[in-house]
Formats: sequence, structure tokens, C-alpha cells
Amino acid sequence: MEAQDRGKKAAGERAVVDLVKPGMKLGLGTGSTAYWAIVKTGELYRAGKLPGLVVVPTSFDTEIQCQSEGLAVRTLASPEVDGQLDLYLDGADEFTPTLDCIKGGGAAQLQEKIVCDASKSFVIIADESKAVAHLGTKFPVPVEIASLARLPLTRRLEALGAKVVLRYGKGKAGPVVTDNGNLILDLTFEHPVDCGLMEAKIQTLTGVIEVGLFAGRAQLAYLGRSDGTCDVLTPRRD
Ligand code: A5P
Repeated sequence: MEAQDRGKKAAGERAVVDLVKPGMKLGLGTGSTAYWAIVKTGELYRAGKLPGLVVVPTSFDTEIQCQSEGLAVRTLASPEVDGQLDLYLDGADEFTPTLDCIKGGGAAQLQEKIVCDASKSFVIIADESKAVAHLGTKFPVPVEIASLARLPLTRRLEALGAKVVLRYGKGKAGPVVTDNGNLILDLTFEHPVDCGLMEAKIQTLTGVIEVGLFAGRAQLAYLGRSDGTCDVLTPRRD
């Protein structure tokens, strides 16, 4: 296993061991770090240590993994969930000391933000490479859009200072189509963005479904290191 993967595994496993309790309604994220949280949740659940736990996945990919782990998979509309979750565990593409983050490298940011905002608590799980000083200049900010709005939105996002690229994937000709049937525009900026301000600006543009900026939402970050240790971070408030 590579050093970065050891960090992801440490963060995902430790967060589950510390935070996931019997009877919880748990939102589970998408990606290579969430993968380890789902594996650990499955292990504890099958061992009878998490009776009554139900999970809500944030993508088709996570739903398939949760089912293969034997977890009790629900949706936000399931009666025992009733639109409210106790905890949401997920990776991030980048996060700052204030725990603002970019998500959506796996094109799941719409479901991720819905699940996040339905949860009492959001905890980031990440390896060391994801901790940054500022957002917006390195890892692209993904915006899920209605396909009809591709060109008008490209121009309006450029007017906000972004370089805009339509996301293409692998194993299919043409652009990435999300689990919800939409397209993704990836934005990079010359200067760091104010996460909350840019999130609000982009959300107002017609044709935007959701932006992968998550401002002021995370309560904790589990930062896994390549030696298998993990730091638990709280948001820095200056
Ligand atoms: C999925 O759309 C994303 O938000 C992921 O949570 C994010 O890209 C982190 O993924 P990794 O854990 O694979 O780096």
C-alpha cells in the first residue's frame, strides 16, 4: 500500500471507530478515503457492534460498496431516516485550517451536499495531501450544471475569474455525466477564493445544480498520516 493510501485508511478507520455508534443514521461519502470508512463500518456492523445502524450513501458507487458490506442501506426518504442524519463522514479534495473544503473530485458533490446539510455533524476524513492554506488555485472547484446551460454558464463563471473546463471521463466518449444526469464544469482561479462568498455567488447562477465548495460545514477533520497515525482537527476561528 502506498504512503497516501495508508493515510486515507488511517483517517477513515479511526473516524468510524471513534464516532459511529449503535442506532445511528449515518451518511457515507464517496471516494478512496470514504472507501476505508465503509469497510470499517461494515466490519463492525457484521460483528454485531453497531446494532440498529442505517446508512445513506452519496453515490451509486458508495451504494454498491455499502450493499456488498452487508450494511442496512436507506435513503433520506426512508421512514427511519425521515430526512435527518446523525453523522456524515466523507473525504475532501482539499481543506483549509477553517475546515472549508472542495468536494466533487468524484462528481458526487450534489448528493454529498444534500447528505451533509441533512446531518447534525460533518466530519472530513483525509490524508495529509488534502490539507492546504487556500482553496481554488490548485484543485478545481467542480460545478454540477444542467447541460443546456453549459455555454452561458461558462461565460458567467469566466466573468467571476474562473478558468472553466468541461469534465471528461474514462470508458465513455464525451463528457462525464453525473449520477443525476448532469454535466460538470471544473473551475480554477488565479487567486485563492473566499469559500463562502464564491459558494454563494455560484449557487445563484441559473443552470447551476450545485457547487463543490463546502463552507463552514465541517465540525472535525481526521487527518491520516502515512505512518498510520491520525490527528483530529477542529476548525480554526481567527
Ligand atoms: C467525491 O465526489 C468527492 O467529494 C470525494 O469525497 C473527494 O473527491 C475525495 O476523494 P478521495 O478520498 O478519493 O480523495
